[in-house]
Amino acid sequence: MSSIPENQSRIVLRKRPTTGIVAGYESEDATFAKEVAKVPRSESELKEGDVLVKVEYVSLDPAMRGWLRDARSYLPPVQIGEVMRAGGVGTVVLSRFEGLSKGDKVSGITGWQEYATLPGKACEKRKIPPGCSLLDYLGPLGSSGQTAYWGIFDVGRIKSGDVVVVTGAAGSVGSMVVQLAKMKGCKVIAIAGSEEKCKWLKESLKADEALDYKAPDFFSTYREIATKKYGYIDVIFENVGGEVLDRSLLMLKPGARIAFCGAISDYNNPKPKGLTNYQAMIAMRVKLQGFIVFDYQKRYPEAEKEIAEWLRDGRLERKFHIAQGGLEGCPQALNDLFEGKNIGKMVAKVN
Ligand SMILES: NC(=O)c1ccc[n+]([C@@H]2O[C@H](COP(=O)([O-])OP(=O)(O)OC[C@H]3O[C@@H](n4cnc5c(N)ncnc54)[C@H](OP(=O)(O)O)[C@@H]3O)[C@@H](O)[C@H]2O)c1
Repeated sequence: MSSIPENQSRIVLRKRPTTGIVAGYESEDATFAKEVAKVPRSESELKEGDVLVKVEYVSLDPAMRGWLRDARSYLPPVQIGEVMRAGGVGTVVLSRFEGLSKGDKVSGITGWQEYATLPGKACEKRKIPPGCSLLDYLGPLGSSGQTAYWGIFDVGRIKSGDVVVVTGAAGSVGSMVVQLAKMKGCKVIAIAGSEEKCKWLKESLKADEALDYKAPDFFSTYREIATKKYGYIDVIFENVGGEVLDRSLLMLKPGARIAFCGAISDYNNPKPKGLTNYQAMIAMRVKLQGFIVFDYQKRYPEAEKEIAEWLRDGRLERKFHIAQGGLEGCPQALNDLFEGKNIGKMVAKVN
């Protein structure tokens, strides 16, 4: 008898949100719906080359808000009725791909579901070595770590002594960036949304400054520190966008770089206000570059090797926030990211 159940739960897109995600499943405006679906229970039910993965954890990412928008982007939007796209990690339980066997641990685009049928070839590239932490492959060894690494080194082009501002600094990507910039010998001004986060950034991650953007005197303190104490900014690793980015534009050194990774402050906003201080970039010859981590896919092994070493020797710290409610709780957990309830990488435990 197969230990694989006949049916599984999964979460599909029900209605595109116009502002924030409508969590829960009862309201007629709910963004997502729960579904029960059949699971393949023997190899003969799989296509040649596919594997069935029992999903253990799924990732929760701000980018998911963008995937719900019916707009031109770097990936097609998730369609109504489709399983919500998500990175995940899990165990191969059926295989019709010769490079993977039952019991292998892999990461891949599993979606918000308990079992995912995936192309073996893609999973083989993301096979998790035995004994390694699965969660790390959603955090520092997954797309967050890759985003931090390529964004700060290749796009931000940091060098020792640079003054680097990191927004969203206590999140999954930001907390890696803070540490990578410190390892490179930069002065780091970390910006995050609570005293607790700022304490972690200063005491554990060794940011030179950690500023709470919700504090009433934030903008004056930020300006004083960035311009007077550190002599203006060389590099911004931008996760948040909006007003903080706008004000930062007035504090840049000539030739400064902005690694434009994300703009979470405006993802739920149907009418973002935009940048008003953008002309300062002309006078300061600033280079602002958006980037998408997937463009570095061919070079992932280079970053993974270095990050794995730094994790092993204790130079890199990581935190995970396991969302309440498992798979069912994913829509609410996604909203929680927009409320800053996480420190480090937000994930949900599925199986
Ligand atoms: N370009 C790429 O390829 C790529 C890849 C991965 C991620 N990203 C982007 O990187 C950024 C961080 O992603 P992540 O996965 O590491 O998420 P995360 O930082 O772990 O979680 C999101 C954080 O954003 C902050 N936030 C939410 N609303 C905010 C607001 N209105 N103003 C300021 N901060 C706000 C919250 O922290 P606070 O408590 O500090 O507010 C929250 O914890 C996102 O913008 C994401 O889209 C881009």
